[in-house]
Amino acid sequence: MQTSILTLLLLLLSTQSSATSASITDRFIQCLHNRADPSFPITGEVYTPGNSSFPTVLQNYIRNLRFNETTTPKPFLIITAEHVSHIQAAVVCGKQNRLLLKTRSGGHDYEGLSYLTNTNQPFFIVDMFNLRSINVDIEQETAWVQAGATLGEVYYRIAEKSNKHGFPAGVCPTVGVGGHFSGGGYGNLMRKYGLSVDNIVDAQIIDVNGKLLDRKSMGEDLFWAITGGGGVSFGRGTKPQHHRGTMGTSC
Ligand SMILES: Cc1cc2nc3c(=O)[nH]c(=O)nc-3n(C[C@H](O)[C@H](O)[C@H](O)COP(=O)(O)OP(=O)(O)OC[C@H]3O[C@@H](n4cnc5c(N)ncnc54)[C@H](O)[C@@H]3O)c2cc1C
Ligand SMILES: *[C@@H]1O[C@H](CO)[C@@H](O)[C@H](O)[C@H]1NC(C)=O
Ligand SMILES: *[C@@H]1O[C@H](CO)[C@@H](O)[C@H](O)[C@H]1NC(C)=O
Repeated sequence: MQTSILTLLLLLLSTQSSATSASITDRFIQCLHNRADPSFPITGEVYTPGNSSFPTVLQNYIRNLRFNETTTPKPFLIITAEHVSHIQAAVVCGKQNRLLLKTRSGGHDYEGLSYLTNTNQPFFIVDMFNLRSINVDIEQETAWVQAGATLGEVYYRIAEKSNKHGFPAGVCPTVGVGGHFSGGGYGNLMRKYGLSVDNIVDAQIIDVNGKLLDRKSMGEDLFWAITGGGGVSFGRGTKPQHHRGTMGTSC
């Protein structure tokens, strides 16, 4: 599996066209429609620049205002995924049309790499903000958290269920789980409990062929890589395990 992920990365870096023609966009959108799970069609989830909501959707998770400029490179399309099959479709159709995919969760990337590119390559965004469910199981002392959730939401949902559980992660409540947990995650509980990734017990990932894998099916090597290796080409959802402690959240 690691090989196929690496293949994706290389493929993306070698895409060199400088503009996306309407026909490629049309073909891509058609492919998305065909690929999505028929029970969860992609209808209201695809935004192109001609759509009046496009600037708002794009700007909502631009967390570095340096990049909220007219001169900032813009995607040719944004998919606001609401179902796992939408992401699978984005991966498969993006690969098929040799288009650069950017994944955005909290949008706190310092260099804005979840929503812009420094090359001239056309790119599209898979925006995760609709996928932000948090299911806390206090008995098991675990939680399934979708990548579009923020750290503040994770802390809040845990605190709703327990006053002695927490999860070690960063101090800024609006940082996204997707970028944070895939990259490490340090915060106030670090000395006693380590990083976020030290407490992640399972994860889901969509591979280059659009296959949804969990820890068991991806294998320990890939699981190790995506819990700390950085999110750019990895990760979708994570399962943190709680520890006792308190949370400080300020930003
Ligand atoms: C104000 C501020 C405070 C911070 N505080 C801390 C802190 O206390 N501790 C700490 O450890 N870090 C901290 N950080 C760093 C932060 O953890 C990283 O910038 C993190 O990558 C942001 O994640 P995001 O989901 O918000 O960002 P995004 O911009 O959405 O994503 C960051 C990167 O991860 C990729 N990515 C995002 N989601 C996914 C996904 N689902 N699958 C695959 N790839 C994905 C993106 O493509 C991008 O490359 C802070 C950053 C800021 C701006
Ligand atoms: C904008 O895109 C959304 C999502 O696909 C769609 O529901 C909406 O009708 C579009 N609006 C316009 C004005 O094109
Ligand atoms: C980003 O820019 C747009 C357009 O100039 C503006 O309306 C919006 O308020 C800006 N976002 C923030 C968070 O300042």
